[in-house]
Amino acid sequence: MMRRRCFPTKQICRSTREFTQRAFRNSRYIPLIPHGIHPFSTKSAKSEDLVCEPKEPVLKSKDIPGPKSIALKKKLETIQAAGTVEFFADYGKSFGNYICDVDGNMILDIFTQKSTLPLGYNHPKLLKVFQNEQNLKALINRPALGITPGKDWPDRLSSVLQSVAPKGLSKITSMMCSSCSNENAYKAIFIWYQNKLRGDSCPSEEEKKSAMQNKPPGSANLSILSFKGGSHGNTLGTLSTSHTNYIRKLDYPAFEWPVARFPKYKYPLDKNQAFNKKEDKDRLREVKELVGSSACKCPVAGIIVEPIQCEGGDNEASEEFFKGLQTICKEKEIAFLVDEVQTGGGITGKFWCHEHFNLEGPPDLVTFSKKLQMGGFFHKDEFVAKEPYRIFNTWMGDPSKLLLLEEIIHVIEEEKLLENVNQTGAYFKEGLMSIEKEFKDLLHSTRGRGFFLAITCANAATRDKIVVTLKRVGIQVGISGESSIRFRPALIFKKEHVDVFLDRFRKVLKCL
Ligand SMILES: Cc1ncc(COP(=O)(O)O)c(C=O)c1O
Repeated sequence: MMRRRCFPTKQICRSTREFTQRAFRNSRYIPLIPHGIHPFSTKSAKSEDLVCEPKEPVLKSKDIPGPKSIALKKKLETIQAAGTVEFFADYGKSFGNYICDVDGNMILDIFTQKSTLPLGYNHPKLLKVFQNEQNLKALINRPALGITPGKDWPDRLSSVLQSVAPKGLSKITSMMCSSCSNENAYKAIFIWYQNKLRGDSCPSEEEKKSAMQNKPPGSANLSILSFKGGSHGNTLGTLSTSHTNYIRKLDYPAFEWPVARFPKYKYPLDKNQAFNKKEDKDRLREVKELVGSSACKCPVAGIIVEPIQCEGGDNEASEEFFKGLQTICKEKEIAFLVDEVQTGGGITGKFWCHEHFNLEGPPDLVTFSKKLQMGGFFHKDEFVAKEPYRIFNTWMGDPSKLLLLEEIIHVIEEEKLLENVNQTGAYFKEGLMSIEKEFKDLLHSTRGRGFFLAITCANAATRDKIVVTLKRVGIQVGISGESSIRFRPALIFKKEHVDVFLDRFRKVLKCL
């Protein structure tokens, strides 16, 4: 182990707090909204309501969670399980890249609510969306979209969601959340697969009867092939294709569906090309064997894959691997489903991550959610179910979320945020790589595209310590896999935010 100058964590915390409090007193806050007036208010805002982004984290409590968060957690626990709650936020005071907690700490957020906030907190343009009365009515009159959608629904779907659809995927099925997007995409695949077998004939009486008894042939003996380390949701169907953490699966019945290994690359990529190429080849061979295997209890109707495995450790795979997967799907006449729930919406520097792979044509289905605010999937024409109610639930999305997405897409274009992701992302990645060199015994395998970045720590305990200490100095990051830290900043993250992070990251690492 390299010897380093060591500060106890509490000391960093104290000195950073004092430093940032001094900075705060010296009015180093940058009001991003003219004169500190909240764009939503008509009167002068009270000083406590000022919404602005500080130049760096501001720490008010001795630790995070602070006393108010701890008290609220106790209160919540009397009503609802709260084991996953880290702290309570004050969303009125959060702004831009900073989340404010109830103890008044302003924390630089590089995880953005599990990667769901493209424009950070309280973006002035989003605050205006529901000032429009028409939009407010869309918010309060939430329709059962499958039955009585509003008169503007076809135009909205077309002008908002189709405007960002992956090339070649003209159809949309809207949904509410990430898991139900994948869950219903599986159903669309099974219907498509069975329709191919049936040809033009209708389901038989035996199929209809047995479906009501959860038995074949009506309940079809089919599967979706997924990958180890993949994560596609928390509903019963998607859990059978999720393989990141036993705690999410324990005690639930599951389908015995085939699971292939995902490539595990060595880094840096340019120095490990031969190993990584072999990894691609071996993994593709395994997929091919699993799809064609007679040992497989149920035929594979489709493959689901993340363009970068998110929860499973930010595992990347090459263009060749994804092209190979698509070829297998075409050869075996099964569906190719790409889960862009976490990678979609611009964070990798393109609107969809699979666009980086130069595939020969679009995937058959692409699921989305998170940064797009509403869930669903884009798909080819043949995945539209012929009969009503086959893919259905009460809400099937939420028009008010599309209003937000419409504005988000405008801001991404107006503020050239994809360019920012590419430029600032490259700067961020370079910074991480240079820190990795400085702390070789603690960090390795910096990786990712655009803002979708990760770094692996020496072991899980070190990773956890780093993440907790970063929070104490006002930085929120995420974890992924066994020992990686994942970064998912908003698309408005700038070089100055990267610098604030790298400075604190270095300080934290020096103290380990
Ligand atoms: C790629 C991917 N798919 C699906 C999901 C499921 O999301 P949720 O639990 O929000 O339904 C997630 C969650 O993070 C994800 O990262």
